[in-house]
Amino acid sequence: MCGIVGVVGNRNATDILMQGLEKLEYRGYDSAGVYVANGDKFSLVKSVGRIADLRSKLGIDVAGTAGIGHTRWATHGKPAEVNAHPHQSATKRFTLVHNGVIENFAEIKEEYLADHSLLGQTDTEIAVHLIGKLVDEEGLSVLEAFRKALLIIEGSYAFALMDAQDSETIYVAKNKSPLLIGLGDGYNMVCSDAMAMIRETNEYMEIHDKELVIVTKDSVSVQDYVGNTIERDSYIAELDLSDIGKGTYPYYMLKEIDEQPTVMRKLISAYSEDSQVIVEPDIVKAVQEADRLYIIAAGTSYHAGFAAKNMLEALTNTPVELGIASEWGYSQPLLSQKPLFIFISQSGETADSRQVLVRANQMGIPSLTITNVPGSTLSREATHTMLLHAGPEIAVASTKAYTAQIATLAFLAKAVGDADGNEKAKDFDLLHELSIVAQSIEASLAEKDVIAKKVEGLLASTRTAFYIGRGNDYYVAMEASLKLKEISYIQCEGFAAGELKHGTISLIEDGVPVIALISSDQAIAAHTRGNIQEVAARGANVLVIVEEGLARETDDIKVVPVHPYLSAISMVVPTQLVAYYATLQRGLDVDKPRNLAKSVTVE
Ligand code: F6R
Repeated sequence: MCGIVGVVGNRNATDILMQGLEKLEYRGYDSAGVYVANGDKFSLVKSVGRIADLRSKLGIDVAGTAGIGHTRWATHGKPAEVNAHPHQSATKRFTLVHNGVIENFAEIKEEYLADHSLLGQTDTEIAVHLIGKLVDEEGLSVLEAFRKALLIIEGSYAFALMDAQDSETIYVAKNKSPLLIGLGDGYNMVCSDAMAMIRETNEYMEIHDKELVIVTKDSVSVQDYVGNTIERDSYIAELDLSDIGKGTYPYYMLKEIDEQPTVMRKLISAYSEDSQVIVEPDIVKAVQEADRLYIIAAGTSYHAGFAAKNMLEALTNTPVELGIASEWGYSQPLLSQKPLFIFISQSGETADSRQVLVRANQMGIPSLTITNVPGSTLSREATHTMLLHAGPEIAVASTKAYTAQIATLAFLAKAVGDADGNEKAKDFDLLHELSIVAQSIEASLAEKDVIAKKVEGLLASTRTAFYIGRGNDYYVAMEASLKLKEISYIQCEGFAAGELKHGTISLIEDGVPVIALISSDQAIAAHTRGNIQEVAARGANVLVIVEEGLARETDDIKVVPVHPYLSAISMVVPTQLVAYYATLQRGLDVDKPRNLAKSVTVE
């Protein structure tokens, strides 16, 4: 989704902005632009397409020591240069970049800007025209005009504003959309994502919703919208520059799939001490006190919630309900007496989940966020946080975060079960079982060539495909089908194997690929085998991914068995590789699928 980077100070702003925008590419975008100021000289350059296209348009005259840049993921108005940010006020004195959605932009246009002609269709252009008008016509200072505009504007935003009459200052503000300050020696930065600043600094300062920040090369002043100063400490982030590189890998997705055994081992060391599982006592207590756990998430993270549901219920003895975050925004079920909301989010910034968290906070419902990003919005605003320790996930298609989410929930379930004296928890040696999971993943990763070959005949030219499974395999089927469709553009459904014959089997015809998942239980496996026969009899091209022990000689991909609570982790890995190779074979960009954004910061 849209990204912002800004810098002011003693550095080459064009270089820093362009490198920052390149680091923001992974979030998904369709156009980009930069505004660079050098004293009283300014350059504004925009381009549709990749950052490389923008770079090719930059002349040597685009130079200076302050500037703002933006990657845009279209919401209002199609991807076009005229809609790309930065946008400028009527007189071009003010220049603005924006992430988010201004909900009352039509009303603002009608009430304040009826006589203004705008170049494009974006809500952002309306915001910068409004600021310009407040300065020009009401005689307000920049700060007063920005403040007043912020009180008029409704919706989600992260803004970075520059004034041509003072190119030494960047004004920023945020509400619901992420934005951070980066602190340097003789320069300061603003950015929607720490990853775009990590080359320059690892010292950051948070901005909270409805705060306005004035950033110069050697000062950062945080204020509320009334003008009161807010004291805020900075912090040092534990990000490593090498974590965000691709190394020798052709794609981030493959690197991240390969990192999964390491992530499992990192989680073991993060959540254990002296061979005992350790989770913060307050978090354990919050689960113990709840009479129902509500897991709220989107996409892959939602699927991880399903994959952990049975284990959580068995070990905590508490019912677990799942909610799609975007639905819960307006349609929340009747809650139990003592609910605990668990938000699962790789980025910690998903707007759909956040709107549910805001409501939970208003209702006084305790919450736990399980996220990969310390200090993210969902982490800051929830009562408790557990981290995924997966390292930055850059590929749009989530892989290592999904498996880390299930493993982290396993630590939570085990810690609560141990504290409760739950018999099933006693029998579940999580540290040992997770190390077997790491080995099982390694064994699957060693079969990449085999998997690539199997996929070749199956998915290279199909339009549709199915994943089927029962129990936990059904939940993996949901995730596996999302992975395949989001990057290979094959329309793929993840189906409960037994449900197929109740309607969807009518779609099975000669050559339709059906990938069956079989793990954990002999009796369930026998039923899935029956469903395989049914689709094969109707011409389906079947590929079987099965745990050794349940495997038949003719099965295609065999997975080293793990504890049934954790089977979703080991079973999903071959399906991640299936999606990866199918996409490569179809000649598509694995890391940057069309229309998608890594961090979905609008509702
Ligand atoms: C798919 C994928 C998405 C995200 C979803 C939620 O590969 O990554 O479905 O899982 O957008 O994002 P987070 O987990 O950041 O809340």
